[in-house]
Amino acid sequence: MTSGPIIIGSERSEAGLPAAMELLRQGASALDAVEAALKLCEDNLDDHYVGTGGLPNARGEVELDASVMVGSTRAFGAVGGVRGYPHPISIARAVLEKLPQHCLLVGEGAELFAQEQGFDRADLLTDEAKRLFYESLAPSHESVEGELTLAAPGDALYRAAAIDLVQRFRPHEGPWGTINVIALDASGEMVVGVSTSGYPWKYPGRVGDSALPGTGNYCDLRYGGAACTGRGEMSMRVTGARMVVDALARGEEPAQACRNMLVEAATLRDAFSAELRTLCLTPDGRHGGAAGQSGSTYNVLTASSDKVEVFARTPL
Ligand code: GLY
Repeated sequence: MTSGPIIIGSERSEAGLPAAMELLRQGASALDAVEAALKLCEDNLDDHYVGTGGLPNARGEVELDASVMVGSTRAFGAVGGVRGYPHPISIARAVLEKLPQHCLLVGEGAELFAQEQGFDRADLLTDEAKRLFYESLAPSHESVEGELTLAAPGDALYRAAAIDLVQRFRPHEGPWGTINVIALDASGEMVVGVSTSGYPWKYPGRVGDSALPGTGNYCDLRYGGAACTGRGEMSMRVTGARMVVDALARGEEPAQACRNMLVEAATLRDAFSAELRTLCLTPDGRHGGAAGQSGSTYNVLTASSDKVEVFARTPL
């Protein structure tokens, strides 16, 4: 149990958590801290599951999902399938703050809104992400000539090969997936933020749990906040983050609440073997995580931490 600000995040959130904790120490809101942490993760070119440098969909386009939820009001803002904007978490926040009668914008509408709000555009497909895309599709790539463009001959071949890859997708070696960040600020407010480029080679237009309330992201200040990483469709089918928060409401300890959600998700029939992971934080600063794979971890920083502390997630 802790008093004062705390911020937790999934694997690879360490790119953003220290700067966000510095903001919290200076009295910033949980919303500012979560946005700041996730923007830094979105800018991390070495991270291929979020923001610029994220791996593309089956047509070679980077499509991003992000959401943010505020615990005291349960206000929610999200974007799905956004192309050409490097900070989807900021657009999600703008949906929350400037379109309060909306929760989620997708595709062209989200891009129009981002343009209207003055967000900068950028090319999100890095050379490294493009190389990984070509390498993964190597068998069909050999039969296709020319640059990767939507009009390229063989585009259909690429897509067929990509969808085949998605169906056979296996958990990667090492940390991968969506980034979750949950912050509790000095005033006691809690915010959950999630940002992702989704599955590599996903079907164009596929939106995952990261953009949906109750699935990849849920926050209720009475009980806590939770977020998911990994196989988004599993989280969608069990309403994963909401399940974790409901378990906290029943008095389950954080790690147990997370693990019990994964036990439920494991009862679903699913041909796609990628794992699901989750983490949560309570309003009194207790935290926990669980994962389908052993060796998975999450990050924690409190106001008194001098570095990111890494905690093991409870395996399924
Ligand atoms: N959990 C992220 C996704 O499925 O896109």
